[in-house]
Amino acid sequence: DSGGVYDFVIVGGGTAGLVIANRLSENSYTSVAVIEAGDLVFDNKNVTDVYGYGLSFGTDIDWQYESAPQAYAGNKTQTLRAGKALGGTSTINGMAYLRAQKAQINAWEHLGNVGWNWESLLPFYKRSERFQIPTEDQCLNGAAYDIEVHGTTGPLKTGWNTGLLGKSVTSLINATYTSLGLPYRAESNGGDMRGFTRYPATVDRELNVREDAGRAYYLPIQNRTNLDLYTNSFVQRITWDETSTNSTPRADGVQFTDSAGKRRTISAKKEVILSAGALRSPLILELSGIGNPAILEQHGIDVKVDLPFVGENLQDQTTGAGVYSSNTSFSGTADYVGHFSVGDIFGNDTYDLNCTVRDSLLQYAATVVEASGGILDQKVMEKLFMIHYDLIFKDQIPISEILVSPGENQMAFSYWGLLPFSRGNVHIQSNNSTTPAAINPNYFQLDYDLKQQIGTAKAVRKLAGSEALCDVVTEELSPGLQSVPLNASNETWAQAIKDGYRSNYHYIATAAMMAQDLGGVVDTDLLVYGVDNVRVIDASVIPFQVCGHLTATVYAIAEKAADAIKSRYY
Ligand code: FDA
Repeated sequence: DSGGVYDFVIVGGGTAGLVIANRLSENSYTSVAVIEAGDLVFDNKNVTDVYGYGLSFGTDIDWQYESAPQAYAGNKTQTLRAGKALGGTSTINGMAYLRAQKAQINAWEHLGNVGWNWESLLPFYKRSERFQIPTEDQCLNGAAYDIEVHGTTGPLKTGWNTGLLGKSVTSLINATYTSLGLPYRAESNGGDMRGFTRYPATVDRELNVREDAGRAYYLPIQNRTNLDLYTNSFVQRITWDETSTNSTPRADGVQFTDSAGKRRTISAKKEVILSAGALRSPLILELSGIGNPAILEQHGIDVKVDLPFVGENLQDQTTGAGVYSSNTSFSGTADYVGHFSVGDIFGNDTYDLNCTVRDSLLQYAATVVEASGGILDQKVMEKLFMIHYDLIFKDQIPISEILVSPGENQMAFSYWGLLPFSRGNVHIQSNNSTTPAAINPNYFQLDYDLKQQIGTAKAVRKLAGSEALCDVVTEELSPGLQSVPLNASNETWAQAIKDGYRSNYHYIATAAMMAQDLGGVVDTDLLVYGVDNVRVIDASVIPFQVCGHLTATVYAIAEKAADAIKSRYY
């Protein structure tokens, strides 16, 4: 019995948290506790059903946070989904397994993150992965891969599920993308993403169920006696070792409400690790006295560490949809995706957009600085935005993702901007940990973000109207020619996009890994600046968006961080 004393206490048994729990408890002399607000969901059909995307939305395993009214998008609020379960958001997400573009991971290194680049992260992507080689049948239907970039012995099963749609649809959709000049890309997880692909998912092909962090990283090791899991347990704050003579504060545990509703504390002899997700970990820092003093003092919280960037730099993406009726019904898994560069979307207009954005960078920085209440710095934001601009216009990494879902008498396209400039924040609104936070992603704050979405919406219409699809697609249901006529102005498109968008649920950077003078909250070992033994290990630390989806990168980051923790102690 641990007696409530552990070497490591992990807050949040989600995507990243369970990687850490698994890796640290490999050493049987190391005791680990995971405290998770949600429950086990191994038998929850809304989770396991590989065709069930969205079934869990609005149920009790969805935090369904509400954003602040979005000032640049008609003042409407947005529902921000996140998983509340063992496995975290990996239990409710779209299961896409897509990493990132090399250049954008390399860009992390330009933010003061020595040792973080594509080459150094690739072994950790591989270490986490157990790639299930597609069957012959699946290969005939478009599943393709380069085994060099995949791991085959890690915990996380990736690949294609049994219900892969047939070859005829694959060729049809390929021809559609080719009509826009987008090449076919057989392997999209090797660091070059531009192109059309049939992407792999996090799936257990044998059982035909979702592969989530719980299944991959917890289930196989649940009997380890040095690992304790507290479910239905909600962490309020870190507790501090008041007897420590260290010059920097030292955490000695956490305070939480257990499954019986009782307020408790448990002790961490070595470290407290926050893995509560990008919309939660910064709040726990604030409630523990780490953050912007002005915010902490407003809520009567003693300042342990003055770290003003906690909760700042929030970045998300926005999703739109083009929905078409079809004379054909398709059933099975529809994992077709295109990743488009700025040139693919804007063609001859790319040069003009390039000039407009370059000339706007100082203004973008000023807008973001003002919106942050002066917490962010003009020169720093100019530098960050220059890196961001280079990724889009010089490296020409994908800026838009278009996902095709052929369904029952329907062909739906979802699309989102991969690299919005807009930045928002998330902060506590009270010193009571159950009070909802103020979450403001500032969608469409900067005009590039809207222009990119308009360009992509137009590309979707072109795809649907392409020769390849003309025998299949019958009518545009959404946005519809009534509200957005064929010759619609950009203003009309903008209105339709702002009326119809949703969050892409890819929240990052609220405790960013960056040099402190650039607005960082954690260092390259993901240790919180100014604290001896608290790390943040989850999507909060990702400093810039990735062109893939987040879990692949979150798993890899957590694998790398686990090594950093081990090397400190062993
Ligand atoms: P994650 O949310 O996984 O874990 C945080 C955990 O902490 C949760 O279990 C939570 O309950 C717990 N917690 C929070 N506060 C707590 C507290 N105070 N006390 C105790 N526990 C607490 N990505 C992808 O790769 N492919 C995809 O297809 C999609 N699609 C997608 C769809 C939807 C609807 C969403 C919401 C997200 C996606 N994503 C995605 C994104 C991706 O799933 C997500 O970014 C990561 O899973 C986040 O992992 P983290 O470890 O950061 O947090």
